[in-house]
Amino acid sequence: MCLLNAGGTLLLLLLFGQSLSTPRSFSVDYRSDCFRKDGKEFRYISGSIHYNRIPRVYWKDRLLKMYMAGLNAIQTYVPWNYHEESPGRYSFSGDRDLEYFLQLAQDIGLLVILRPGPYICAEWDMGGLPAWLLNKKNIVLRSSDPDYIAAVDKWMGKLLPMLKPHLYQNGGPIISVQVENEYGSYFACDYNYLRHLTKLFRSHLGEEVVLFTTDGAGLQYLKCGSIQDLYATVDFGPGANVTAAFEAQRHAEPHGPLVNSEFYTGWLDHWGSPHSVVSSAAVAKALNKILATGANVNLYMFIGGTNFGYWNGANSPYGSQPTSYDYDAPLTEAGDLTEKYFAIREVIKMYRKIPEGPVPPTTPKYAYGAVGMKKLQTISDALEKLSFSGPVKSMYPQTFTDLNQAFGYVLYRTTLPVTCSKPTPLSSPLNGIHDRAYVSVDGVAVGILERNKALTVNVTGTAGSQVEILVENMGRINYGKDINDFKGLVSNLTLETETLTGWTMYSLSIDDAVSQGLLGGKQPPPTDPPQPAPLSLPAFYGGSFIIPDGIPDLPQDTYIKLPKWRKGQVWINGFNLGRYWPARGPQVTLFVPANILSTAAPNNVTVLELEEAPCGSGPCTVEFTDTPVLNGPVTSHDKQDWGLFAKEDLL
Ligand SMILES: *[C@@H]1O[C@H](CO)[C@@H](O)[C@H](O)[C@H]1NC(C)=O
Ligand SMILES: *[C@@H]1O[C@H](CO)[C@@H](O)[C@H](O)[C@H]1NC(C)=O
Ligand SMILES: *[C@@H]1O[C@H](CO)[C@@H](O)[C@H](O)[C@H]1NC(C)=O
Ligand SMILES: *[C@@H]1O[C@H](CO)[C@@H](O)[C@H](O)[C@H]1NC(C)=O
Repeated sequence: MCLLNAGGTLLLLLLFGQSLSTPRSFSVDYRSDCFRKDGKEFRYISGSIHYNRIPRVYWKDRLLKMYMAGLNAIQTYVPWNYHEESPGRYSFSGDRDLEYFLQLAQDIGLLVILRPGPYICAEWDMGGLPAWLLNKKNIVLRSSDPDYIAAVDKWMGKLLPMLKPHLYQNGGPIISVQVENEYGSYFACDYNYLRHLTKLFRSHLGEEVVLFTTDGAGLQYLKCGSIQDLYATVDFGPGANVTAAFEAQRHAEPHGPLVNSEFYTGWLDHWGSPHSVVSSAAVAKALNKILATGANVNLYMFIGGTNFGYWNGANSPYGSQPTSYDYDAPLTEAGDLTEKYFAIREVIKMYRKIPEGPVPPTTPKYAYGAVGMKKLQTISDALEKLSFSGPVKSMYPQTFTDLNQAFGYVLYRTTLPVTCSKPTPLSSPLNGIHDRAYVSVDGVAVGILERNKALTVNVTGTAGSQVEILVENMGRINYGKDINDFKGLVSNLTLETETLTGWTMYSLSIDDAVSQGLLGGKQPPPTDPPQPAPLSLPAFYGGSFIIPDGIPDLPQDTYIKLPKWRKGQVWINGFNLGRYWPARGPQVTLFVPANILSTAAPNNVTVLELEEAPCGSGPCTVEFTDTPVLNGPVTSHDKQDWGLFAKEDLL
């Protein structure tokens, strides 16, 4: 291994003396099994940070903490759907300012390993692919399908030229660029697709840049994941056999540097499954082993951050990921230092000189306390303000894609075709609720339908009664063969055996209505018919709080918790913090970054509660606390099997 091979250095310098004359270069050295930077042997110890999961104001703090841990590089994905939310409309400003992020990393002294996809997995909605790709209903994603390739070519034609000046050899921090992501785990195994991407990346970035792939550390993954001209690397966690894992890489790359592109410091969560934790001791021990072989490593994640808004992904069989992407990483969701951070730093210290000076401290958190909430309006009451585009009518239900809506909620309305005096099953026989639906008849909540879990509710009512079904998109599948994940009612509903027809569908622009303050009614909310416990109609609740005077350094970060609330979405001053679901767990608190809080005006909290707010009886409050709770009890007792995905053999 090259880093242990100090004696050979002089000879190597002579052999590769030519590259010394190039001022900035980065390459794979197949002769001495290492990377070579400016002609010298080079090994990276890197950490993953996703700029899209951290508010821009905190990028510098997180990067600095990574630098102070002894890392010399960072790794990030570029989520296509975050930058091109509708075709041809690109967004690279504010929290999406990728070039500023790259510049910050460089200013701090960190190199960058870039993973621009087009597919990224990442527990991110649809693995980073834009949902509008599904406008072509039969598109084969991640393959040579011409519709897919055309969209990829256009996107990469925008992204890659923008990145080119940031390549190491052009004066920037990017030392290498990953093509696709764990492609060997995907069923298509389309080498023409990988070849196409290779040509595309080369045409925009040049011949010199190091392009690589990442796959599970097993021959079965490397088979379809690696091709010529892309340097094959592997990923594995602290439970793996390091020797065997790198032997797998050697099978694909007999020579060149050893690289673990994703060394797992923790693991992801799913709603309804216990919070994942991986011990610091296990991480430190395995990291030491990897570094002792002379290998390059990227710690995934070094900081996980937050799936704000609707950005979380899901696994198949359908299980969605929570709002927090803490990952039990060495820096918490909020960027706090942990025991794991210092354990990792101690290991790195044995292999490279780490920067002197103090580590930036954990940012203070503040408990603003309880905030009283008042009911504003139900979704149905607020329909005119929520559905700017007005309803769409059709015989059979349409999907989010048909309605041109990517995220959030759609309201489906129809009527009972016959009188149901006895409880009558309203069902989705083909499991077409994507992903959760809140059902009411004539303004009375009657039940919840959920993908794979609850396909029938009983209804009663007279012919012509109004049936309303609010369907929530809980995040698109981001891994495996089911990533063409259409949302809404994706198949017909039946009443007994009769297919329901005559639908009116309302696309809901809830985020716009919340940020424009349209939901705060001056008059008291209309009274709904009495609701049978334990459900009520999906409705908005509002409250506000003032940042106290006379305490220095406020506003500070905080966490919001919603005790006795069940499931919904929460905004502060119009910023969508994400989903809460303490009734299912394990996440209990949501991270509230200080930058969305105001000292100039009362801070407005808006909650969309989908099931039942605690406001009928007892205190109707939300609470701001200084302590996160991500490991609350879980109440979904079905044991999910994410077998293929979980790569447990690699953990
Ligand atoms: C790890 O893998 C190597 C190479 O395949 C093997 O020789 C060794 O026995 C394995 N170690 C353990 C603890 O399984
Ligand atoms: C619907 O009602 C029938 C008859 O009362 C009952 O057997 C069935 O369990 C109910 N189904 C649901 C989903 O509540
Ligand atoms: C609903 O059923 C009709 C009639 O069988 C069929 O033509 C239509 O494709 C179905 N729609 C969906 C979304 O499954
Ligand atoms: C909260 O809402 C009130 C009333 O609409 C508004 O005056 C105030 O500026 C809002 N606060 C913030 C921080 O936006």
